[in-house]
Amino acid sequence: MAAQSFRRAGFALLLAACSALCLAQSQQKAEPVYEPAEFQPGKDVVWVPTPQVVVDKMLDLAKVTAKDFVIDLGSGDGRTVITAALRGARALGIEYNPEMIARSKRNAERNGVAGKAEFVKADLFETDFSKASVITMFLLPSINMKLRPKILALKPGTRIVSNTFDMDDWLPDEKVTLGSDAGCNASWCTALLWIVPAQVAGDYKLPQGDISLKQRYQALSGTLGKEGRTFEISGTVAGEEIYFTAGGRAYSGRKNGKSLELR
Ligand SMILES: C[S@@+](CC[C@H](N)C(=O)[O-])C[C@H]1O[C@@H](n2cnc3c(N)ncnc32)[C@H](O)[C@@H]1O
Repeated sequence: MAAQSFRRAGFALLLAACSALCLAQSQQKAEPVYEPAEFQPGKDVVWVPTPQVVVDKMLDLAKVTAKDFVIDLGSGDGRTVITAALRGARALGIEYNPEMIARSKRNAERNGVAGKAEFVKADLFETDFSKASVITMFLLPSINMKLRPKILALKPGTRIVSNTFDMDDWLPDEKVTLGSDAGCNASWCTALLWIVPAQVAGDYKLPQGDISLKQRYQALSGTLGKEGRTFEISGTVAGEEIYFTAGGRAYSGRKNGKSLELR
């Protein structure tokens, strides 16, 4: 009889424990984890994630190192910011959707880079990104064009990398399209790099000759006058560094404040 009561009590205890467990589990289920859906609306552009191989290529093109401060404009689930932080850079994601911000923070913690990867809920058009050494973006051509004047005014040498979308007549310094052999099977497999050029147009009297430079973004033209002869200049600006040829000779130099120094 005692054994039977004991068994009955044991069974009741088991039932109570099981129902407590089931209740806890059902309560956990009641709080669903936010799952974004591709092409879900965003403030100015929908969310589509950059394929990870393209994120890697974008950061490779920008030569991101631990010395960099990377800002991703419209950071989605945080993958670019987290990848940059995993390379040792300090990185910041600007994202308008607060649920994506929460998801990004969880992802950063899971990857052990919460100390380097920061996320802020903000409008990218209202954000000061002048402290970045690298800007990453996967937006739209029209948004790139709206941002272009602000980007061109950034510190010379700032690297800009975009997934797929260009900046109209400001041609990229580099462009790489990944194929399925490189693991990119989506539609968004092109990484483009621009390096913000210093403004070097002007006239300079230098030991090498009289130089008159014209500039269109990073492309240089103009003339070099030397010993009574005039030579056409053709060259490029990469940040503060300039490279050109004139009269069959190659020149390189640097914009230093207002003056130009040729080596
Ligand atoms: C195409 S997704 C790119 C996401 C991420 N950069 C990537 O490459 O995986 C664009 C992101 O920008 C966000 N977005 C759209 N308009 C925005 C705005 N005005 N300010 C900040 N974020 C915005 C969207 O919510 C979306 O997450």
